Amino acid sequence: MAAPAQLLAPTFTTSSIKVLVPHFHAAALHLLHGIEDKPEANLSKAFQDTALEAVLRALFSMPEHEARENLSALVRSYVEGVGRPNLFDVFARSDDAFGFALGKRQRFQSRWFGAIAAIIAQRKADPASAEHRDLLDLLLSLKDAETGETLSDAEIRDQSATMFFAGSETTARLMFWAAYMLTLDTSEQQRLQDEIAAFAPDRAHSLEDLAHWPRLRNVLLEALRLYPPIPTSCARPLAPTR
Ligand code: HEM
Repeated sequence: MAAPAQLLAPTFTTSSIKVLVPHFHAAALHLLHGIEDKPEANLSKAFQDTALEAVLRALFSMPEHEARENLSALVRSYVEGVGRPNLFDVFARSDDAFGFALGKRQRFQSRWFGAIAAIIAQRKADPASAEHRDLLDLLLSLKDAETGETLSDAEIRDQSATMFFAGSETTARLMFWAAYMLTLDTSEQQRLQDEIAAFAPDRAHSLEDLAHWPRLRNVLLEALRLYPPIPTSCARPLAPTR
């Protein structure tokens, strides 16, 4: 079995960006509707909500507001509650050390597994039409490069969870710091607005279209340089890998 990053890599090809862009666009509109007429907004929270919304839409489409809100509330309760690192995590030498302290996490896990299993079963029974594709469709069609087999439901569930948790907080931090930096430089903010007005977001459908916003790209790269969402990594390869 390939490692998570290797398994997911084929999901993020240039052509799959087309599948994802409409979902990101919808999440951006959700952000605008959430903050537009407010004199003040907590941007840290607004971007967390937006990143969750983006990853939920990109993974499972979920146009129905209620289903999306339920899943999003489940994830938020984990991220803000039992998922937060605690003292037991610092001293635990394995995943099941301090079992007595894991009850709430196990209850979350079974609700999460149940919710994702229901989405996978529904999708298999009623495959999405070609124009409404999402990451779940890409995962269902993915083959393990080492074994050539399609992924099991449990693997799809675990890959979805990895994307959910690896993709949302990181992206939220990046958007927050980029927005913060732009508040400090209003002329740069204006130049960026002009760049985006010259190629409006509803015209962006592919990776090539995003090249119309070189200044935005540089602002995001600069935010990543100054405020990296993951500033250090303690991962160590166990064996040579490509
Ligand atoms: C600004 C946004 C992001 C940043 C800064 C970021 C950063 C990173 C870093 C530094 C790692 C390596 C961690 C390590 O090995 O110690 C990593 C791994 C990973 N990231 Fe991201 N990431 C971002 C967004 C995303 C998104 C949007 C997704 C998916 C939807 C994603 C999925 C993953 C996955 C699957 C891995 C590999 C996990 C593994 O091998 O176990 N990331 N990311």
